[in-house]
Amino acid sequence: MKIVSIAGARPQFVKLAVICRAVAAQNGTPVRHVVVHTGQHYDAGMSDVFFQDLGMNPPDHHLGVGSGSHGEQTGEMMKRLEPLLASEKPDWVLLYGDTNSTLAGAVVAAKMSLRLAHVEAGLRSYNRRMPEELNRIVADHLSDLLLCPTPVAMENLRKEGLCGRAVLTGDVMFDAALMFREQAEKRGGPLADAWQPRTFALATVHRAENTDEPDRLRNIFEALDRIAETVCPVVLPLHPRTRKVLMASGWTGRAIHVIPPCSYLEMMLLESRARFILTDSGGVQKEAYFVKVPCITLRDETEWSETLQNRCNVLAGADQEKIVAAAGNAGHAGPWTAVYGDGEAGLNTIAALRSHG
Ligand code: UD1
Repeated sequence: MKIVSIAGARPQFVKLAVICRAVAAQNGTPVRHVVVHTGQHYDAGMSDVFFQDLGMNPPDHHLGVGSGSHGEQTGEMMKRLEPLLASEKPDWVLLYGDTNSTLAGAVVAAKMSLRLAHVEAGLRSYNRRMPEELNRIVADHLSDLLLCPTPVAMENLRKEGLCGRAVLTGDVMFDAALMFREQAEKRGGPLADAWQPRTFALATVHRAENTDEPDRLRNIFEALDRIAETVCPVVLPLHPRTRKVLMASGWTGRAIHVIPPCSYLEMMLLESRARFILTDSGGVQKEAYFVKVPCITLRDETEWSETLQNRCNVLAGADQEKIVAAAGNAGHAGPWTAVYGDGEAGLNTIAALRSHG
């Protein structure tokens, strides 16, 4: 069986690492796995460090697409993917999550009548203003095999008439958290030394719905500053998209501790040590849940609705007062129940590809 994986953005490299391990663990009929990096994320701290930390070989193909508007970026990926897939002739094209790299891979592979499988299928925020929501819907509807992380994802696909193609595998990001936790603790590092457990809050902000809306962004950063002044220090690994927008707006924070984007292992350590986490990232919401740290989501809805049980995750949107109040109440979260599988989602994915091949 030959699989071509298409990835390009930071969270996809984490999911890809789990699939690479599952491929390596196969005995019997071998699996040939070809990795294509679209180049959507190109800064060393957003890409190379993930391949190194997660023990992956460099990608077999790098398309070097880089930044652009949605149309430009996606179109350029499609142009470069088509001849590559024509020469690789895979049995399966494997897509991950909800980025523009997912969308480009889905459209090209489906039009070439290649068999298409989607890792992290069935997630819905039901907010069509999010580019990620549009990408997921297209990827799910074009895929032949839908690999779902949770029963909620299975149910979402059933509502869209897609349950005949859906398989419940568990969540590959949960596998990654289990695989790399020990390594992260062992390696430690300056960030872990600087930030002792439960003394700080961890924040991330990068979603277009926040960065591209000046009022929302101002409210969120004002709330983070107020939390840093009145509750506990706030550590913010800053995504390049957000850095650009903040610099252009002339923003200067009062109290937030801004650091460059973190590697996966550093992020895991910070997440597990934080008193609470504030984020608009889907992946970080879930990682907070894995390490049983209260999460405040800086969005109006979440596709990971399981995390909302028992106040483990609270939706505060971009409402300054709600965010600050949620930080004060973060101690009341939990208990956390197991909802993301048994750490075998990667192996289940390869098994599903084999049995549907
Ligand atoms: C993308 C995904 C989002 C995912 C996120 C993780 C889409 C539509 N969005 O958002 O779902 O949660 O990745 O990080 O695919 N930039 C750099 N260096 C880089 C990468 C980006 O400077 O290595 C800057 C560029 O100015 C670029 C901007 O960030 O224009 C946005 O990058 P892009 O990949 O389009 O989207 P993300 O915001 O990273």
